[in-house]
Amino acid sequence: MKTLSYILVLARAAVSQNVIDLGNENWTLTGPNITVPGSAPSQAHLDLFAAGVIGDPLYGENDTELLWVQRSNWTYSTVISNLSQADEISTWLIFDGLDTFASINFCNQFVGNTDNQFRQWYFDVTNIARSCKDEPKLSLNFGSATKIVKEIAENGDPLLNSADGVPTEEFCCKEYMRKEQSDFGWDWAPKIAPAGIWQPARSVQLNSASPVYVRNALIDIFRKGQMNNIPPDQSQPWIFNVSLDYLGTLPRDSSLRVFLNDAGGKSILDRPLENAYQSTSTIEGSITIDPKLVDLWWPTGLGSQPLYKATIKILHGEKTVSEIHRRVGFRTVVLNLLPVTEEQQAQGIAPGSNFHFEVNGHEFYAKGSNLVPPDVFWPRVNETKIRNLFEAVVVGNQNMLRVWSSGAYLPSWIYDIADEMGIFLWSEFEFSDAEYPANSSYLAQYEEEATYQVRRINHHPSLALWVGGNELEQIMLSYFFDPDNPGTLLREYEHIFLELLIGAVYSNTKSISYIPSS
Ligand SMILES: *[C@@H]1O[C@H](CO)[C@@H](O)[C@H](O)[C@H]1NC(C)=O
Ligand SMILES: *[C@@H]1O[C@H](CO)[C@@H](O)[C@H](O)[C@H]1NC(C)=O
Ligand SMILES: *[C@@H]1O[C@H](CO)[C@@H](O)[C@H](O)[C@H]1NC(C)=O
Ligand SMILES: *[C@@H]1O[C@H](CO)[C@@H](O)[C@H](O)[C@H]1NC(C)=O
Ligand SMILES: *[C@@H]1O[C@H](CO)[C@@H](O)[C@H](O)[C@H]1NC(C)=O
Ligand SMILES: *[C@@H]1O[C@H](CO)[C@@H](O)[C@H](O)[C@H]1NC(C)=O
Ligand SMILES: *[C@@H]1O[C@H](CO)[C@@H](O)[C@H](O)[C@H]1NC(C)=O
Ligand SMILES: *[C@@H]1O[C@H](CO)[C@@H](O)[C@H](O)[C@H]1NC(C)=O
Repeated sequence: MKTLSYILVLARAAVSQNVIDLGNENWTLTGPNITVPGSAPSQAHLDLFAAGVIGDPLYGENDTELLWVQRSNWTYSTVISNLSQADEISTWLIFDGLDTFASINFCNQFVGNTDNQFRQWYFDVTNIARSCKDEPKLSLNFGSATKIVKEIAENGDPLLNSADGVPTEEFCCKEYMRKEQSDFGWDWAPKIAPAGIWQPARSVQLNSASPVYVRNALIDIFRKGQMNNIPPDQSQPWIFNVSLDYLGTLPRDSSLRVFLNDAGGKSILDRPLENAYQSTSTIEGSITIDPKLVDLWWPTGLGSQPLYKATIKILHGEKTVSEIHRRVGFRTVVLNLLPVTEEQQAQGIAPGSNFHFEVNGHEFYAKGSNLVPPDVFWPRVNETKIRNLFEAVVVGNQNMLRVWSSGAYLPSWIYDIADEMGIFLWSEFEFSDAEYPANSSYLAQYEEEATYQVRRINHHPSLALWVGGNELEQIMLSYFFDPDNPGTLLREYEHIFLELLIGAVYSNTKSISYIPSS
């Protein structure tokens, strides 16, 4: 992971942005009665363990003995080095993931509050940076998720506890917050509820030479005319669609150019994107690619995994304003749910609906396992661990993993490894085994999170499917649903899983199928 972000920083340095990886700064972690060296990405338990203040949280019954850690506030602080205070420069703080309830201060001024582990957070701190008199100190005060969510639930919702009386603290209320739900105990998971800067964080300074920073990028590769959930026409050319989310001010009449190189570095194409469209936060464009130029990506056992390095440049005139790099593959994958045809019935298939995957127009058996979080502490999941796990998948003759909800959306570097090894990832939104609140504040959270995740992951050929969540319909029907009085429950379920989430998928990608519940 470190290597990947290093490459990105170098690439951006080429267009003279000042991107500071906050993981390289010296952090301290302060709790109710102690201060220790901190780090980022990390979580309070890990830094306390590293400092010898607590033992291994997973040893014996330490999880229950260390409840005071999850019931305390923990503040991560650092001084950002190399920050310019020049008037013409604008400054942003960008967090790819904060776990979960944080109050952020910079130069002794309030920046913002966060309450969703699953989205990127970004803050324009230009005015604070310019007027900063002291050293540019950044601090994030993380509240106790266990305590905060209990308050939210008790104040908020009359439906709380309607299922089976008073819940144990272990399972209390987790559906009222956007935090890894297995952090609060699951049949396989201890109740640790960690807190911290769990994903990379950056400060970015922009100037007139490099006025924008691309914070997220959508690349959608599909056959011309393709629609979600429907097997596409394999004789059609590829459409390569790009939509970049940027921070800063992009000059009007900017354009996009795509460069595609094969694994050996040979240039496959170098062309301006057409149909350019630019708003104050995104720039988009697409091209048609002759299928003869590229080789198909297949899951392991069915073919090879050719990957291409895509560089997308934002240009103003001849000048490169910003650029991003993503590794992509060319394949179609569909979960076919269409009615069984008469032709299929003639082959002996029972009438009803199909439920099978098709890759590049070929039906195949999806053979796989259920992937829960490989560690309750994500910041210590590393490439060695994932490669070992994925090698076992391939050796075991499997070709798909279900990325179980309710852990967390996988970081992109794990999809990168799956792309290389030909492992499809059945990917779920983080909703599981509960009735989720659906007032307008929550719906806005779900929308922001789902849009960010769909766009972030879409270029990976290993992405097989988006699913609304885990065991939702089973749990709803068994525990919550009264068929004589479907009312609010049915409406809320349909709103989240059959309107909002499917909308987040369909409005950003044409290449991926969606189903509401595993
Ligand atoms: C972090 O602390 C070490 C030891 O005091 C120091 O050598 C180093 O320069 C510091 N790094 C930053 C980015 O401030
Ligand atoms: C800090 O407070 C907690 C909870 O009161 C206690 O269990 C722990 O031992 C204390 N740690 C230190 C280093 O004093
Ligand atoms: C936790 O586990 C360690 C072993 O790493 C043990 O020595 C320690 O006493 C345990 N208890 C606590 C509260 O950390
Ligand atoms: C700050 O800039 C110096 C000199 O360019 C560089 O060596 C150092 O790594 C930078 N520090 C950080 C935290 O980026
Ligand atoms: C604990 O953290 C929460 C969330 O950041 C914050 O609102 C609250 O003020 C903090 N409490 C203390 C005592 O620091
Ligand atoms: C939604 O519910 C939460 C939790 O009860 C509450 O904090 C929030 O204010 C509600 N939002 C609206 C718009 O009612
Ligand atoms: C990766 O994590 C494992 C523990 O799961 C550790 O033993 C190993 O040293 C780590 N590898 C690297 C390269 O950091
Ligand atoms: C490209 O993706 C964007 C979504 O970000 C969408 O609005 C646009 O219609 C897509 N273009 C094509 C050609 O599919």
